[in-house]
Amino acid sequence: MKHYAKAFIVLGVLLMAVPSFAASETLIIFYSRSGYCETAANILKGALNADVQEIKEVGKDRSGDWGWYTAAWDAFWGNHTPIAPEKIDTAAYKNLIICSPIWSWQLAMPLHTFFEKNKITDKRIVLVTIGNIDIKKYKDVGPQDNVVKRFFKDYLGGKKIKAHDEIQATMDHNQYVLHKHFWIQSQKDDPSAKKKVTVIKEKLEIAGEVTQAIPNIKKALNVE
Ligand SMILES: Cc1cc2nc3c(=O)[nH]c(=O)nc-3n(C[C@H](O)[C@H](O)[C@H](O)COP(=O)(O)O)c2cc1C
Repeated sequence: MKHYAKAFIVLGVLLMAVPSFAASETLIIFYSRSGYCETAANILKGALNADVQEIKEVGKDRSGDWGWYTAAWDAFWGNHTPIAPEKIDTAAYKNLIICSPIWSWQLAMPLHTFFEKNKITDKRIVLVTIGNIDIKKYKDVGPQDNVVKRFFKDYLGGKKIKAHDEIQATMDHNQYVLHKHFWIQSQKDDPSAKKKVTVIKEKLEIAGEVTQAIPNIKKALNVE
């Protein structure tokens, strides 16, 4: 009996000492074609003790230039491409982090399918997006600027609102608490060694930027 008591105490101490055993409050759902959102998801997973669920496309090869064009085609036509898993059980989580590349100024198509197939209720939501065009350069565009710049500012602002509205419209009692957008000058697919080094450098850069955003994300989600 004494041994049982000791074992219980040891187990209790171990569980207290290793908080990562505790059930996670946060689920990160991500899709990544070329690894940047995957990098972001992994950084957030470590920092928030979160669970992670990757969404993959079914029957689509998005690699290389051809994969880029087919993704652009699907984004242009708004095709909700098949995904796996199609259903994700989010019931156990208070918080969701949705991490998506930007395709044609909207969430990547697999995320559209996710929102179409899943009913999400009563969550705090952080949206993390990554794009390769620096939208901040349009921030200070005003009446003094030419029509092209003003068009892009309005166009991009409209797209952002549309992405938020789309997510909100698909969900019940959710609180959209933060949208963090990261910009990285990623290059088109090129299998050369030089490109591989560049990609590693860019992924480190994204990892650094996401790390900097962690306090804000934690605050928005109200987690330690
Ligand atoms: C079809 C397609 C369309 C894209 N359109 C945009 C865009 O409109 N704006 C932007 O900033 N980046 C755009 N990008 C770039 C991606 O958002 C960027 O490379 C992102 O980091 C990729 O994330 P991933 O590596 O997780 O797939 C596009 C990429 C693809 C494949």
